[in-house]
Amino acid sequence: KKVINLGLAGFGTVGTGLARIIQENSDWINRRLGKELKIQKVLVRDPGKKRSVIPGPETAIVTDPQDLVHDPQVDMVVELMGGLETAHSLIKSALKEKKHVVTANKALLAEKGNELFALAQEQGVGLYYEASVAGGIPIVQTLKESLSGDRIRSLTGILNGTANFILSEMTRKGQDFETALQAAKDLGYAEADPSLDIDGLDAAHKLVLLIRLAYGVDYPLNILPVQGISGASSMDIAMAAEFGCTLKLIAQVREKSGHLQAGVFPALLPNDHILAKVEGPYNSILIDGNAVGQVMLYGQGAGDLPTGSAVLADILALARDNAVPNNTGFLEKVLPRAEVIRPEL
Ligand code: NAP
Ligand code: HSE
Repeated sequence: KKVINLGLAGFGTVGTGLARIIQENSDWINRRLGKELKIQKVLVRDPGKKRSVIPGPETAIVTDPQDLVHDPQVDMVVELMGGLETAHSLIKSALKEKKHVVTANKALLAEKGNELFALAQEQGVGLYYEASVAGGIPIVQTLKESLSGDRIRSLTGILNGTANFILSEMTRKGQDFETALQAAKDLGYAEADPSLDIDGLDAAHKLVLLIRLAYGVDYPLNILPVQGISGASSMDIAMAAEFGCTLKLIAQVREKSGHLQAGVFPALLPNDHILAKVEGPYNSILIDGNAVGQVMLYGQGAGDLPTGSAVLADILALARDNAVPNNTGFLEKVLPRAEVIRPEL
């Protein structure tokens, strides 16, 4: 097939970012892929809303998920709407129709990943999710493929762009929490429900996905200790600075004697710690593998183009003729013994 028709469920921050990249890089993409990518259909809630980007000259706009998923012309479904129920049933229907699915929905995958990955496997199609963790940083691919032979001793990261942006604005510009949060919303970094960002749950969703990739185990979200930054005040920031430290929201997992210890928590990092220098909507992940040693990834963890870049990479991987979907990497049969303890830095 010379044209791959995409069905985009959602045309907000990430959807419009993706459309812009497809438009701006179309020559390059077509040459690399040997095929044309076309946005065939877009699903939105409000078709009358003014959009900053036009998806394509012939793109149909629909409001019923069924119109998108069951359209025989749609080859691949790209879920960028967020939320749980509608996105869940849309992805299930698409997989049942043997369509590859790309999603940025970490909340859904952290809750229903087991079921959806199994369904994708059964149907022989891909369920790819690079954009779900750390925006534009290629961490999913890194763990699924590049470091797949290593035993990962630990992963330590800044996985939420909104929280990091807020803490940076409070530190650098002396802004108060609410002003910084509003700016993160305006810039398209925050979730539709920003309490997910500031209460640490979004980072927890991402950590669960990283644990699955790094250790092949399904770490139960409900036993993960999670603490956010919503109580952080200018006073906390000032006190941290006085001690030569920076306040960061950290997500960590490490293996100790065959057990996994994990959590999300605000931490005071010495100013010379490498993660203390990660500012604004940037994310970073420090990986410690038993063969490779330390690897650090750094990049924009939220926003339209960085996230769109990761979505597009998944689309291209699945659009290649010889693509054999590798959805989860490797999954162990036994559940880990999870311990609730305070992670270390
Ligand atoms: P957004 O700006 O709120 O856009 C959501 C889009 O989905 C909108 O176009 C909305 O339609 C549509 N939509 C939502 N519910 C719908 C429904 N029930 N029926 C039809 N259309 C519906 O969200 P976003 O920031 O792009 O995020 C999308 C997904 O990417 C989320 O899962 C998020 O967690 C994830 N993500 C976001 C970022 C980021 O930086 N923003 C980064 C990584 C991952 P209307 O436009 O008509 O309202
Ligand atoms: N709201 C998320 C964040 C988007 O701020 O990190 C990227 O997943």
